[in-house]
Amino acid sequence: MPSHKDNLKKRAELEGLLRSLRSACAKTRGFKGASIVFGEGPAPCGLMIIGEAPGRVETRLARPFVGRAGRFLISVLKEVFEREREDFYITNVVKVWPTVETKRLKTRKPTKEEEGFFLPYLLKEIRIVEPQVVLAVGKTAFSNLAPDEDFTPGSWVSAGGRLIMPVYHPAYLLRRQKYLEENTRELKAALRKVKARLTAG
Ligand code: URA
Repeated sequence: MPSHKDNLKKRAELEGLLRSLRSACAKTRGFKGASIVFGEGPAPCGLMIIGEAPGRVETRLARPFVGRAGRFLISVLKEVFEREREDFYITNVVKVWPTVETKRLKTRKPTKEEEGFFLPYLLKEIRIVEPQVVLAVGKTAFSNLAPDEDFTPGSWVSAGGRLIMPVYHPAYLLRRQKYLEENTRELKAALRKVKARLTAG
């Protein structure tokens, strides 16, 4: 069990990391003035959930994974782990909403440059949170954490000294309604493997 003092130290480290990210964004074209959606949850934390980037709803509420796809993933997590959202540390690789300007802002995939800008902050965030397992939600998260590995949802990978479980991104699952039931079963099976590993300590 981490001591109260350790928890406070980690909280202060995360706040420091957010401050340095804010100041780096303020100096960088493309991120100046952008709303940052930082990670949230306990630190240390056994399970760290890492997605691609916040979307419209996440940016409005300044919280990761609170839009439709995020709520779907979190509901499955809660069911499998029999835990609350607050028990997990949740974050993204890219911490601002990548958009294209049409009549209304639309979500796009982050560029490699954007991912590269945010990756050192994510790696520091992981070091602070010290998860036993990282859930890499979607290919973007996975390829940043394990660049030399193939994306095989449901199969353990060890990279950068961390144990990583890749899963399909919930937005992708929700777009394929026809396969949603089957894909949700597979997602639950992957999460049960994570749960078994966490319980095993
Ligand atoms: N998709 C992600 O990858 N992250 C979020 O926070 C929301 C949707």
